[in-house]
Amino acid sequence: MKPLFAQIPALIHGCDYNPEQWLDAPDVLDADIRLMKEAGMNTMTLGVFSWVTLEPEEGKFNFAWLREIMDRLYEAGIYTILATPTAARPAWLDEKYPEAMRVNAQGIRAHHGVRHNFCPSSPKFRMRAESIIRALGAEFKDHPGVILWHINNEIGGECWCEFCRARFTAFLKDKYQTIDHLNKQWWTAFWSHTYNNFEQIEPPWRNGETTIHGLNLDWKRFITWNFTDYVRFESDILRDIAPHLPQTNNYMHLYPGLDYHKFSEIIDIISWDSYPVWENDKETYFQTAMDPSFDHAVMRGLKPTKPFMLMESVPSYVNWHPYNRAKKPGTHLLSAVQAIASGADSVQYFQWRASRGSFEQYHGAVLTHSGKTNTRAFQDVKALSDTMNDLKEIVGSVVASSAAVLFDWDNRWAIKDAKVLSDNTKNYEDTCRKWYTAAMTQGISADVISPLANFEDYKLVIIPMMYMIKPGFAQRVKNYVTSGGVAVMTYFSGWVNENTLCHLGGFPAEGLSEVFGLEAVEIDTLYPGQTNHAQFAQNHFKVMDYAEILDVGAAQVLASYTDDFYQQSPAVTRHDFGKGTAIYVGCRMEDAGNEYLLRLAASHANVRCMKIPSGVEYHERHGDAQYAFYINWNETAVTVHDCKPGVDLITKKSVDTSFEISGKSVAVIKAT
Ligand code: GLA
Ligand code: ZN
Repeated sequence: MKPLFAQIPALIHGCDYNPEQWLDAPDVLDADIRLMKEAGMNTMTLGVFSWVTLEPEEGKFNFAWLREIMDRLYEAGIYTILATPTAARPAWLDEKYPEAMRVNAQGIRAHHGVRHNFCPSSPKFRMRAESIIRALGAEFKDHPGVILWHINNEIGGECWCEFCRARFTAFLKDKYQTIDHLNKQWWTAFWSHTYNNFEQIEPPWRNGETTIHGLNLDWKRFITWNFTDYVRFESDILRDIAPHLPQTNNYMHLYPGLDYHKFSEIIDIISWDSYPVWENDKETYFQTAMDPSFDHAVMRGLKPTKPFMLMESVPSYVNWHPYNRAKKPGTHLLSAVQAIASGADSVQYFQWRASRGSFEQYHGAVLTHSGKTNTRAFQDVKALSDTMNDLKEIVGSVVASSAAVLFDWDNRWAIKDAKVLSDNTKNYEDTCRKWYTAAMTQGISADVISPLANFEDYKLVIIPMMYMIKPGFAQRVKNYVTSGGVAVMTYFSGWVNENTLCHLGGFPAEGLSEVFGLEAVEIDTLYPGQTNHAQFAQNHFKVMDYAEILDVGAAQVLASYTDDFYQQSPAVTRHDFGKGTAIYVGCRMEDAGNEYLLRLAASHANVRCMKIPSGVEYHERHGDAQYAFYINWNETAVTVHDCKPGVDLITKKSVDTSFEISGKSVAVIKAT
């Protein structure tokens, strides 16, 4: 299988490395490289936030220090991921070009400082960014150690300045062409909100117009569009200088502010930064683990044909969780293997060596302030290098999923903004995560993908709360089911068009009623603690939060409500449509209900189910061979069944169809 980088035929194990903090301490830098080798590191990410050290004054570049470090790393067999330094700005830049500093949602311009807060539209900022990127690119494009460009860092936030507003106006003009069309799509006749021209439209200032859903949604879309434009700006410069080098931009889990489905069209390799709240006081390890597991599935779904990278994580604790608990023994190994099992070909950290001062001085690092190697962090990282070496042959293989959960940022924004249901329990992301988890616990691997992606490639498609139906989507679902696909769709689907206008003529709209053989005529929002039940032939499951009242046409009723005035009316249905099956879940059921339904759906879709023991996470990667990953998040041993016989790559022992995994440990079985 093809590794992400021809130079490294192994899993990548590395860190953000910020040596500019230590340029006056050569002994520290010497120790760094020696200890990186000892820890088994093979890459370092350099240059994130290094702008002022690379360009201490406008136009005066100093790359010598970076070259020396990159040379020494390369000699030691450690490759460089080179970042553009544009995510933090030198004081000289903001002093001379104040327009680079963002304006907030109240219209107030920020003062100099912090990071991740440049205006992406500012011509002067772009001028300085282009200058440093061109200089950096020219200097290092042929350096043999460089394998990847890291564009900026964790792009996020919003800018509300005049440049951004002008671009927003252009964005709207381009989208709607006429003000009349915009007024209709935004339904502005209501409350006298009709605009006479595009110039009247302001962004949704916090103390301004916040009640037009179409405006709020288009502003969110604009933010993605504008940052996408910015990333393309950096990307184009780098492609011009060094077309041979791939590019990434590190994402932040399910960051609500950017549509990563759109963002990902520019870059070559998906990477993201994961900092789960391990060891918390509310959840089991498995419950905590489903958060990053879902995020991994989203990242994998962005480019499903190749591995992604875990660009940042931490071997110990961060410094920004509400309570920064120490990771218990084993947690680091399991979370790292979880990433690999989910399709990552790297495990990287922020950062190599703990800073001596400033904002992140107490953030965990591979090397602590002691500089010693007998710490748990260092030893865990070193031990993980051995494990990653054992798993080397999986490099380049991918997770082969038979199911997809459809997840959409526009839908997410529209649901959040809609004045409907209860803001306390809409929980769109969590609902999608629960369906993903329900699939995984039945041994069904699911990618999380956009409704605009090729869901037709999967045997089973899960469509939770698809409130917004984008043009063409309903027809694709119809074609998919007609030609043999199995679709599971839930309550609160098919209500609005892409601009949040309600579809007329009944929900789920756009022909989905025909596919699912019913109409959803009312939705009941329950208070927390209130329940109903969905009674199937032999099982019944708790219903909470949402219960739709269904007018069933051609569908068969699988379950009915047990309580309330809609007692005995349909809650869950199945419709055999064309060659496929359309299952409709009219209510929010407890997890066991989702699991039960997915087993049923899988039997229609010809997807193999496995009963994965409770608390165990399961994934498969397929390459030259098939690799089954079992991550036992329980603190006690469990026995797994239904396994394909093979060899455990870590213990090197043969295993049969069932075997035991001890508490908080992993097994990676290569099928033989
Ligand atoms: C983010 C940033 C890093 C660092 C870590 C701390 O992921 O990219 O620079 O601040 O958070 O957890
Ligand atoms: Zn701006």
